[in-house]
Amino acid sequence: MTRSQFIRFVAEPAVFAAALVPAGLIAWQGFHGGLGAEPIREIQLRTGWWALTFLMITLCVTPLRRIPGWNDVIKLRRMLGLFAFFYAMLHFSNYIGIDQFFAWSEITKDILKRPWITVGFVAVTLLVPLAATSNGFMIRKLGRRWGALHRLVYVSGALGVLHFLWLVKKDTREPITFAFILVGLLALRLRRRAPKSAKPRTEGATPREPATASG
Ligand code: HEM
Repeated sequence: MTRSQFIRFVAEPAVFAAALVPAGLIAWQGFHGGLGAEPIREIQLRTGWWALTFLMITLCVTPLRRIPGWNDVIKLRRMLGLFAFFYAMLHFSNYIGIDQFFAWSEITKDILKRPWITVGFVAVTLLVPLAATSNGFMIRKLGRRWGALHRLVYVSGALGVLHFLWLVKKDTREPITFAFILVGLLALRLRRRAPKSAKPRTEGATPREPATASG
């Protein structure tokens, strides 16, 4: 089996299945009363945590290509980015549909008046154009601008971390850990720029191989 066959037939399906496990577990536990005394809050917390975790995993792809030289991980980047978006949408939908039960005036008030929710809202909104442009057609159509657009993933990640930091009352260890990871990834990104001669590709990267949520 060639390396590219391995990625296509083993790594991609394995990562796909693994990325669905947290959602499957939430659904399973939800239906079997296993989410504790506050199930809606538990869903909110878990989906938020996974959205941020998938964002960070996606951002690890470029350093993994450049430092140990695992070039083929690029093929998983789009999928990982889309899973970040998937969990962010579950998080947002749980808040809108289950927590607030579509009380639009309350939701609008929350978004406008509670800064930590405003920040989460901006973070999730920024992921929408990234997910929408993560296909080969948009990569080709946007050319170099695609890379610039997809650098917004760092902004979304930073806002996600800020949102987390803001909402925790006492124990800030977890959001601070996420903040360190993000700063580290950003530092690697800024230090080691891609060679200008890198070729364009349609599998989730542009000529300047941008780090993105979706590709
Ligand atoms: C409009 C958008 C969003 C809303 C309304 C929202 C709302 C919430 C709420 C209500 C909680 C639970 C707070 C608590 O009960 O203590 C929460 C937790 C969380 N959210 Fe969001 N959020 C949004 C977007 C995001 C995004 C985009 C991310 C990540 C990129 C994110 C990451 C998190 C994390 C990490 C937690 C805490 C998880 C934990 O404690 O383990 N949120 N969010």
